[in-house]
Amino acid sequence: MAMKRAASTFLTSSSRISSSLSSASSIFNRNLHASGGKKKIVGVFYKGNEFASLNPNFVGCVEGALGIREWLESQGHEYIVTDDKEGLNSELEKHIPDLHVLISTPFHPAYVTAERIKKAKNLELLLTAGIGSDHIDLNAAAAAGLTVAEVTGSNVVSVAEDELMRILILVRNFLPGYHQAISGEWNVAGIAHRAYDLEGKTIGTVGAGRIGKLLLQRLKPFNCNLLYHDRLKIAPELEKEIGAKFEEDLDAMLPKCDVIVINTPLTDKTRGLFDKNRIAKLKKGVLIVNNARGAIMDTQAVADACSSGHIAGYSGDVWFPQPAPKDHPWRYMPNHAMTPHISGTTIDAQLRYAAGVKDMLERHFKGEDFPEQNYIVKQGELASQYR
Ligand SMILES: NC(=O)c1ccc[n+]([C@@H]2O[C@H](COP(=O)([O-])OP(=O)(O)OC[C@H]3O[C@@H](n4cnc5c(N)ncnc54)[C@H](O)[C@@H]3O)[C@@H](O)[C@H]2O)c1
Repeated sequence: MAMKRAASTFLTSSSRISSSLSSASSIFNRNLHASGGKKKIVGVFYKGNEFASLNPNFVGCVEGALGIREWLESQGHEYIVTDDKEGLNSELEKHIPDLHVLISTPFHPAYVTAERIKKAKNLELLLTAGIGSDHIDLNAAAAAGLTVAEVTGSNVVSVAEDELMRILILVRNFLPGYHQAISGEWNVAGIAHRAYDLEGKTIGTVGAGRIGKLLLQRLKPFNCNLLYHDRLKIAPELEKEIGAKFEEDLDAMLPKCDVIVINTPLTDKTRGLFDKNRIAKLKKGVLIVNNARGAIMDTQAVADACSSGHIAGYSGDVWFPQPAPKDHPWRYMPNHAMTPHISGTTIDAQLRYAAGVKDMLERHFKGEDFPEQNYIVKQGELASQYR
């Protein structure tokens, strides 16, 4: 069993956690539970409601259930799907004590806290239908000997395309024009006084992994000045092909940018990265696109900078928490082009991440490893960028 291998390697090799007797014994217990047999699998997705039946490929919602219900049930597994994820009386909470596998999604995140992990005595595997597992307490999952994996690459094109759209929406000052169209107004000046071309502008991406690189490739024909900051440099040939310049020092890159796009995961290092001080050092009139994670920004600092005009436009689909409460400040700040969390859950993306989840479940049942790039927590260790 992959889980058995994981646990035994973990017990012998991890100096970080092996010091804790209690966590070692919890891993041992989970190892016993990870043996074959019928599993209880819980999926937490957004509700499809009246839209669920409009498209047979709409598999990402509760009703679509990733299209794996028949397959799971035909093997005798129990599959419970819900959108009810918050609080002690939620449907999710009810199943925490005896579920074996939890499938969650960043679009409607089931926050998997250390308390929930402690309560989930049978839990073996946490799968993210999509990319970004920050809704899970990854350190607690590692300490408990759990595997966390996501469908790496499944929606990167979907997000990169969406980011390009958001950049254009902000640069061209599109939304006020749309609002005029639907409200019977006609005021060209009200739009034109702050509408620009994208050509010639400096665009910097913070993070140039799968999504960041795809965005840079898509921006190339717009003849911009492209910059990127990352822990890692892009391979020289690709860097040359894209024509983007590496900026080792984030704070040296940011003030040069007319448009900043965030493309890093949410980790201990990126949480609150854009606080009041860092935002104050950005170019006045900067545009920001953030489809990465809401908590990379200081919520109030962004709202204040939009109100003062220091940030001239902010767009993204990620918030904290999600769903965003009715009084979330980003709903009311000026010059924003926010949407619910949507970019990575196009129908194409849903089909890809549903197939990826099915593949990993199949491997899990057979005791086989997953594709290496899918692991976020494996054998008690977090993936390198989360450490
Ligand atoms: N809005 C959506 O629907 C949606 C969908 C998919 C992914 N995402 C978000 O986008 C993120 C990136 O996705 P990806 O597929 O490109 O991931 P990726 O792992 O391919 O790329 C992430 C890049 O960030 C860099 N990085 C990590 N920490 C850093 C730090 N502290 N400083 C500088 N660089 C750092 C990494 O080196 C890597 O190159 C995900 O983690 C997720 O949070 C959002």
